[in-house]
Amino acid sequence: MAHMKIRKAVFPAAGMGTRFLPATKATPKEMLCLVDKPLIQYGVEEAVAAGCTEIIIVTGRGKTTMEDHFDKSSELEASLAAKNKTALLEIARSVSKLAKIVYVRQPEALGLGHAVLMAKEIVGNEPFAVLLPDDIVDASTPCMKQMVEAFNETQASNGEMSSILGSEVVEGDAISAYGCLDCTPDTSNPRLLAVKTMVEKPAPGTQPSQNAIIGRYILTPRIFEMIEGITPGAGGELQLTDAIKALLQHEKVYGYSYEGKRHDAGDKQGFLRATVELALKHDKLGPDFRAWLKTFPL
Ligand code: G1P
Repeated sequence: MAHMKIRKAVFPAAGMGTRFLPATKATPKEMLCLVDKPLIQYGVEEAVAAGCTEIIIVTGRGKTTMEDHFDKSSELEASLAAKNKTALLEIARSVSKLAKIVYVRQPEALGLGHAVLMAKEIVGNEPFAVLLPDDIVDASTPCMKQMVEAFNETQASNGEMSSILGSEVVEGDAISAYGCLDCTPDTSNPRLLAVKTMVEKPAPGTQPSQNAIIGRYILTPRIFEMIEGITPGAGGELQLTDAIKALLQHEKVYGYSYEGKRHDAGDKQGFLRATVELALKHDKLGPDFRAWLKTFPL
C-alpha cells in the first residue's frame, strides 16, 4: 500500500460552550482569547506545524466570527498599511495565510462522532487529524506533529495505517470525564499503547485504566463507516469513542502518550490556569507579566 500522509485536520467547533456561560452566550467558545489569540488558532497552528495543509472546521449557528478571523481583512490591512504599522500588518496577514480553511455545518449537536461525520465528503478516502479546540497542548514538539511521526512509523513498520489517539494518565475519578483506553504498552515505541478496547466516560470505579483520550486523534477513513453504524451512547450522543471501538474489529488502534502539558481551556478553571502559564511563557508579554505576578499579594 502506498504511504498515506496526513494532510487534512478536522476541528469540531459546533458546540454551544455551555460550560463557559455567560462568556459564550453570543461568542463562540473557540473564539475566547487565550493570552493574545483565540483558542481555535492554537489548534490550527498545531495542525499546520504537523504538516496539515487543509483545515476543516465543523461549525454551527452563531459561529461566523471564526470564519472572519481566518479570512483576509482588506480594510484592516489597508488601514495598517496606510499608517506604516508593518509589524501589526504582518500579524493580521499571517492569520489569513495559515492554511486553506473550509467550513462545514453540523445542523444539530448530536455528538462528537456526528460532528466528525460532517467532514466525510471533504476528507474523502485518506487518514486525517482531529483536534478538539478546547484542549490546548503546550509541548516543545507540537502534539499533533509527534502523533503524525508515530503514525508514519507504525504505517512503515506494519505496512498498513492505524488510528492513533492522544492519551494521558489522569488521576482517580477524573477519568469519568473522558474516553478511557483499555490498553497495554506497545513494544515498538515507549510512547505507544496497543488498544484492546475503550469506553466513553466510564462510571467511577468501572474504568479499565487511568489512560484518558485527549482531544487529538489521527483516524483512518474507515472511521466514517463506523460512525454511520453506531447508535447513541454516553449522554445520548453519537460518540467518536464508540466508533473507534468498532474500528478495532478491523484495524489496529494505538494510544500515544504525548510529551507536553494539556490544558482543558473549555473549563473556566482550566482556562485561567492556561492563561497564566502561557502568559508567563509568552516571548513578549512574559517577562513583564512574571515581574508583576511576583509583586501580587497572594
Ligand atoms: C470528548 C471525547 C472524549 C475525550 C475528550 C477529550 O469529550 O468524547 O472521549 O476524552 O473529548 O477532551 P468531551 O470533552 O467533549 O465531553
